[in-house]
Amino acid sequence: MKIKEMQLVSFRNYENETFTPSPGIHLISGENGRGKTNLLEGIGVSLSARSFRTTTIRDVIQHEKESAYVKTIIDLEGFDHTLEMSIRPGHRFLWRDNNKMKTIGEYKRGIGVVVFQPQDLNMVHSTPSLRRNFLDNAIRTIDGLYEENVKNYYHLISQRNFALKKHKREKNLFEVYDYQLAKIGSYILVERLKNIKKLNNWAKEAYGTISNQRDSFQMNYMSTLPISSDIKELEKMYHQLMRDNLYKDMEMGRTTIGPHLDDLRFQIDGKEAKSFASQGQIRSVVLSLKIAESLLIREALGSNPIVLFDDVFSELDPIRREKLLESFKGMQSFITMAEPIEKIFYKEQLEDIRPIKITEKGIEEYSF
Ligand SMILES: Nc1ncnc2c1ncn2[C@@H]1O[C@H](COP(=O)(O)OP(=O)(O)OP(=O)(O)O)[C@@H](O)[C@H]1O
Ligand SMILES: [Mg+2]
Repeated sequence: MKIKEMQLVSFRNYENETFTPSPGIHLISGENGRGKTNLLEGIGVSLSARSFRTTTIRDVIQHEKESAYVKTIIDLEGFDHTLEMSIRPGHRFLWRDNNKMKTIGEYKRGIGVVVFQPQDLNMVHSTPSLRRNFLDNAIRTIDGLYEENVKNYYHLISQRNFALKKHKREKNLFEVYDYQLAKIGSYILVERLKNIKKLNNWAKEAYGTISNQRDSFQMNYMSTLPISSDIKELEKMYHQLMRDNLYKDMEMGRTTIGPHLDDLRFQIDGKEAKSFASQGQIRSVVLSLKIAESLLIREALGSNPIVLFDDVFSELDPIRREKLLESFKGMQSFITMAEPIEKIFYKEQLEDIRPIKITEKGIEEYSF
């Protein structure tokens, strides 16, 4: 998929900006506060109807304006589609090919976007939830059924946790919860294991490229349950474990096993990334994971997703920067940097790459 044209109206600091992207890599530079992240956000909003920056979409409406509007023409497998979105406080209106869309799902059908933001780097050191979110988000994008099941699973967990505190005597209630959780939890676990295997292979390869084969990356799924790829067997074991743990769970007031507690383990050259990785290595890990996510989407949708990477080059040495660019080959990608491009790359390195500069006048071609 490739964006052919886009327009941002009253969107953040963009009054009315049109932009005609190329099919390949864009390097976007500009001083702090010029609107680099806003441009990526604009592309992301127009492709997914959501902002990666804020959950209150009205924030994107330009100050003093009543509404924002974004329009994109995107080529999906050889066919052009027009996506339009108008954002007002409390409302968003979506059109695809001039037809009003009722749901975000209909609006973004067949479209994939992968975003890297500097705060994604926290994933390596944080509590397991950010690592689980990475995995869940990657699978969600390609599988609506997974999304549904994850939602149901968390709903059941919060109901069971409430019952563990308030309705300890109602044993039948736990029979129902535990049966359902074993079923949904097993499905989630099997899907995660299937996808983590693919993501690990791709991330390993991307990490090898970025580090110029200097060090190696490995990711493992750490489960609170015994692992089996036979779903029927897994459901049985899971259900039994839920029963065995019931009294302990009552004491703790929460459910102590299940995919809501699982984790991903990242290792570089066999050592825990959390404890031993350098800044540049951490960045390389997270970027490799994002590239792996792009490949997962490509496999599912049959074409490369649009890649939006914000502020990626800091902390990377010159070889890693160059190798990172190599990893984007074939993907329409928008990559921002605060430094002037010539400080980071020679002109000769930028063959097939479109340098862009955001100035007070808006989006301009970069001239060396
Ligand atoms: N709703 C809005 N209306 C108008 N301007 C806005 C709005 N939201 C943010 N801005 C402005 O956008 C600018 C920030 O843009 P952005 O975050 O894209 O900068 P950037 O180029 O990514 O900078 P940095 O290099 O520091 O990351 C700020 O000047 C901010 O005031
Ligand atoms: Mg920024």
